[in-house]
Amino acid sequence: MSEFVKVERDGAVLVVTLARAEKKNALTGAMYEALTAALAEASADDAIGVVLIEGSGGVFSAGNDIGDFLAFAMKRGAEMKDAPGVRFIYALAAFAKPLVAAVDGHAIGLGATLCLHCDLVYASPAARFHMPFVDLGLVPEAGSSLLVPQRLGRARASQYLLLGESFDAEVARADGLVNTVVDAASLHAHALAKAKALAAKPRQALLATRRLLRGDPAALTARMGEEVDLFTAGLKSPEARAAFMAFMQRSKG
Ligand code: COA
Repeated sequence: MSEFVKVERDGAVLVVTLARAEKKNALTGAMYEALTAALAEASADDAIGVVLIEGSGGVFSAGNDIGDFLAFAMKRGAEMKDAPGVRFIYALAAFAKPLVAAVDGHAIGLGATLCLHCDLVYASPAARFHMPFVDLGLVPEAGSSLLVPQRLGRARASQYLLLGESFDAEVARADGLVNTVVDAASLHAHALAKAKALAAKPRQALLATRRLLRGDPAALTARMGEEVDLFTAGLKSPEARAAFMAFMQRSKG
């Protein structure tokens, strides 16, 4: 388990907080394991109807820990298939109960693509989404190459995934990623109230409707498999190594 992921119950809602604010809630292997365990806990417990995911310290998440990416890139014969991050994204895609996100500040990489798996996304005016995979020598992950065009349209997919442009909360709302923009001070209470409203619905009808809304799960997992293979190759590319090294050196300087 990780001290950087806090899991608390609030009625029928499991509140999962990314709590590594000093590193912008960048996600480590231990944090992915804690997140996967939180989803398993929520799945197994009938008293939990919904999971709410939020960040801390004015940031949602800066995505995968770049030091971990660099370590992987330098390791000969390293395979991603069993990596904690990969296990987490499959658990996220397979999770059957509603997911709600409260996004304040940066949501980068998986911080952004995680939101595509959420049924309701609330964001503060300071939220900023960025999926800079191509610039890092990588490809989109967590099914985002399928989910971004589905949810936001092809034009936006090209803008956000090929050009790698970041976008703010209001644009995310207009594009259909975010439901409502809420002041940072009210964000947690607002998202929690919506999560509780969902959790209070007739459970079978809620879960069946969610399953219908999400479409074919096989298409999503097949796409995720393709992405993992391409992502693994990307991590080993000279472009990716150079981008990770540049970031690590910047953060030291
Ligand atoms: N992995 C590892 N460490 C990270 C990180 C990441 N993804 N994102 C931020 N951090 C660390 C920084 O190295 C820094 O550590 P330090 O204080 O020990 O030097 C600390 O978090 C604060 O980040 P900093 O860059 O100084 O803050 P900022 O406000 O200037 O910028 C971000 C914030 C999020 C815009 C910037 O940190 C960033 O671009 N992060 C990388 C995002 C990314 O490309 N993620 C991968 C997506 S696939």
